[in-house]
Amino acid sequence: MDRRSFLKSSALGVVGAVASREAGAQGVERQAQVSDGPSLPVVVASRNGLAATQKAMEMMGAGEDTLDAVIAGVNIVEADPEDRSVGYGGLPNEEGVVQLDSSVMHGPTNGAGAVASLEGIVHPSKVARDVMTHTDHVLLVGPGALKFALAMGHEKRDLLTDEAREIWMKWKRDLSERDDWIDPADRLPRSMTPGEKHAARQMMRHHGTINCNAVNEKGEVSGVTTTSGLAFKLPGRVGDSPIFGAGLFVDNEVGACGSTGRGEANLKTCASFLVVEFMRQGVSPEEAGLRAMQRIVEKTTEPYLLRDDGKPAFGLNFYIVNKKGEYAGVNLYKGSRAQFAVHDGRENRLRDSAYLFER
Ligand code: GLY
Repeated sequence: MDRRSFLKSSALGVVGAVASREAGAQGVERQAQVSDGPSLPVVVASRNGLAATQKAMEMMGAGEDTLDAVIAGVNIVEADPEDRSVGYGGLPNEEGVVQLDSSVMHGPTNGAGAVASLEGIVHPSKVARDVMTHTDHVLLVGPGALKFALAMGHEKRDLLTDEAREIWMKWKRDLSERDDWIDPADRLPRSMTPGEKHAARQMMRHHGTINCNAVNEKGEVSGVTTTSGLAFKLPGRVGDSPIFGAGLFVDNEVGACGSTGRGEANLKTCASFLVVEFMRQGVSPEEAGLRAMQRIVEKTTEPYLLRDDGKPAFGLNFYIVNKKGEYAGVNLYKGSRAQFAVHDGRENRLRDSAYLFER
C-alpha cells in the first residue's frame, strides 16, 4: 500500500482527509531534500541543536560512546541562557520556578533513565544518565529527583535568569486566559465563538526543548531529550520529554526518534515509539514520521485545540534516524521553523523537515 492509499484508508473525518491529500503530495516532494543517502556516523537534533550535533560528532570521532556524545552535545544548550526552552535560562512555570524534564536512552545496553519536574540543576540530562547508570529505576521526579541529583554530586543553583524572570513577570501582568486551566465543556464537540477560539489559541505557548540522536559507525544508537517544558505551565506539569516512547524512543535494532512541540499531543499517541515501530516494519524515517503525525491529527478532536479549518492549533516536530543512517525531520506544519540539525560526518547544517500541512 503506498502512502496515499495508507493515509486515505487510515484518515478519520475531515481533518484526516485534508491531511492525507497534503501529506501524500508533500512527503514525496520533500523526500529528496532530506537525505543524500545513508552513511554512518550521523547525528540529528532539533533546530536549536547545531552546536550539539557538532559536539556529538566530534566525540564519536574520538571513539566516545554515542550516549555520552549526545549528552555532551545538549549540555551546551542546557547551559546557554539564551535558549529559553532548556536548562539554565529556560522559562519558568506559573509560579516562576524553572522545572526541567529529560530522558536518555542507550541502545547498545537497552539502558534508559529520566527525570521530571527537577529544580535547580543545570544539566537534567546528566542526572537522567545517572538514574540509568546508578539505580534500578528509570524515572525520578520532583524532590526525589533533586535529592538524587545532589547525592550524585550535581550542584544546585538558581536557573531563573533576569531575562526569563522579566518574560514571566510580563506574562503575569498580562495574565488573562493565557494559562492551562480549561472549562471541561471545551472538550465536548461544539462550535466555539471567535472570542473563545482566540482565548484557546493564547494557551498555545512556547514549547521549546532539544532532542539529539546519534548512530555511530558500528550502528550503535542513542538519544537524549531535555527541556524546561511549556512556559508558565501549572507547577508539576510533566511533558513528553522524560517519557520513553513519547519525547524519546531508541531501539538499537531499528533507530531513534525524539520530539519537540506540544507534549500533551505526543504523550497521548506515544509518537516516538510509533515512529520507531513503523521503521521496524521497513518504513523510511520520513514516512514513519508522517504516519505518526497523521495519527496525532486524527486523535486531536477537542474543539479548543483545533483551528477554524479543523487542523491542530499547535506545533509538533520529530527528529528521526535509523540504524543505517537514514534520517528525517518531520513537522506538523511547514514554516520558518520546519528545520532540523544534521551532522552526517561531512557537514553540519540545518536541513528542511518534511511536513504534513503547508499551513
Ligand atoms: N515537548 C516539550 C513539552 O511539551 O514539555
